[in-house]
Amino acid sequence: MGLNVIMMGAPGAGKGTQADRFARERGLPKISTGDILREGIKEQNPVALEAKKLMDRGELVDDATIIAIVRDRLARPDTRPGFVLDGFPRTVGQAAALDRLMEERAQGPLVVIDVVVPEQELVRRLDGRRICGRCGTNAEAGKPVCGKCGGELVVRADDDGQVVVERLKVYERATRPVLEYYRARPTFRVVNGAQAPEHVARDVDRMIDDAAAGGAARVAGERRVSARAAE
Ligand code: AP5
Repeated sequence: MGLNVIMMGAPGAGKGTQADRFARERGLPKISTGDILREGIKEQNPVALEAKKLMDRGELVDDATIIAIVRDRLARPDTRPGFVLDGFPRTVGQAAALDRLMEERAQGPLVVIDVVVPEQELVRRLDGRRICGRCGTNAEAGKPVCGKCGGELVVRADDDGQVVVERLKVYERATRPVLEYYRARPTFRVVNGAQAPEHVARDVDRMIDDAAAGGAARVAGERRVSARAAE
């Protein structure tokens, strides 16, 4: 059984921060569709360059492109023990495609964490964010250069005021329905993201472990029932 986690949340909720940390601590791959697209842009990949036009306006990249990216990434063997998805799914169509992929994999349930932060705080965080111009990592508070590679700190292309407003609108319109898609599942959890990062981390860990334990027990129970029915 894999530990398959989706970190949901509005732009600036801290889902990337928590996904990164959790994946590192548990030895799982973090799969961020935003990071994959930004890396593709740096490498001048034609699909990513096309996507950049939408990203710079705060709009979503089309489902077919994103689903193909995630399908390819989840096919790699390092995802067998599980994965942490960050920024995917963002539409109900993407969520349905992920469910089909999970059925094919048959490697445990999806644990869905929704990191919730008030809009005013989201805008404050995105306004203040700096990233490394070389490796793309979020800057650490108080450091004049990137803590990872020493690169120069810059404003992320889509953290411009008007683009942030559009990203938040797109989140409400396209991504909030994804929460409703998952909400009734026993492995769905909500975390208060408006706390210090270490407190968010503590809650995220507790929620994931609790949801995964319940999910694993349910899958084992269902398998016992099917085995008995087949006897
Ligand atoms: P993406 O890269 O996924 O961006 P996003 O969803 O807008 O999220 P952010 O990275 O801005 O925020 P986050 O929640 O990860 O917060 P973070 O941890 O960085 O997507 C970018 C674009 O790519 C999209 O607009 C779209 O065009 C395209 N795209 C990507 N995926 C797609 C998909 N599936 N379908 C279609 N299109 C797609 O934190 C933010 C800041 O807050 C940082 O400075 C951080 O240090 C700080 N912070 C974090 N936690 C805390 C805390 N607890 N307290 C105080 N500060 C905190």
